[in-house]
Amino acid sequence: MADSRETIVNHAFVTGYPIKHSRSPLIHGHWLKSLGLAGSYKAIEVAPEAFPAFLQSVRDGSGGMVGGNVTIPHKELAFKLADRPDALAEELGAANTLWRQEGVLHATNTDGYGFTRNLDQRAPGWAACDQAVVLGAGGASRAILQALRDRGIKTIHVLNRTVARAQDLADRFGPALHAHPLEAYDEVAKGAGLVVNTTSLGMDGTPVPDFDFTRLAPGAIVTDIVYVPLKTPLLAQAEKQGVKTVDGLGMLLHQAAPGFARWFGTLPDVDETLRALIVADMAG
Ligand code: ATR
Repeated sequence: MADSRETIVNHAFVTGYPIKHSRSPLIHGHWLKSLGLAGSYKAIEVAPEAFPAFLQSVRDGSGGMVGGNVTIPHKELAFKLADRPDALAEELGAANTLWRQEGVLHATNTDGYGFTRNLDQRAPGWAACDQAVVLGAGGASRAILQALRDRGIKTIHVLNRTVARAQDLADRFGPALHAHPLEAYDEVAKGAGLVVNTTSLGMDGTPVPDFDFTRLAPGAIVTDIVYVPLKTPLLAQAEKQGVKTVDGLGMLLHQAAPGFARWFGTLPDVDETLRALIVADMAG
């Protein structure tokens, strides 16, 4: 007798404008294949003016999608238009992961999760530090600050070229945060257990400022959220000084996992096979 159970095959997307450089289809495609699941995940380029109609098609199911990821420039609008953003997206004012459940469009932001899971995997014990230094106060910095605060890091120094932007984030994310200009590094780094770079320092042809990473606590970690190249100028500088580094690729891989779990029902592993696949793609 034929099996009468209906197999549900879910379809998900990543959208941005432009979107062709996204590695998300490679990541989710790898997980679908290795887990033997029948769903699909594809990149769909949507211009800003068409984004509200696109989201509506996700909400009402007419687009055949159960949810997806959104990236630049749609993260803020995705948050605003979602029916039920969670507390993380609400505080950041931006969402990168959407899913439909009984006609309701839910939204969250998994960047902070990706950031902390990457450190958990590559530098276990990192969260025992009392003090962290975050370079940069742009869009990418927010999710990091939120995640560090939520993980219980007691003192978080936010250093930025434009100190008013750092102050704005310190006001927004609470008393653990302290705003400074970049020049305050020497003063605040002493004894810190973690330095996170969220800026393009050293990437635009200009030299990286001289950061003395030996001032950090013994066993401290320097990490970058940029992952192209894997070894950013800042990480290279830290390595030269004998300080442990964690590159940003794992953050990209881990931030993808909760969405996959929502759409396809299984929380996938971020393992060395996936990492090698993306590294090979970056080299190719
Ligand atoms: P993102 O979303 O990637 O964070 P962003 O919002 O444009 O992008 O923020 C870029 C961050 O990198 C900011 O903290 C920016 O400092 P300012 O707020 O002073 O602009 C920082 N940044 C970029 N280029 C920099 C440079 N050459 N030197 C120092 N900081 C730089």
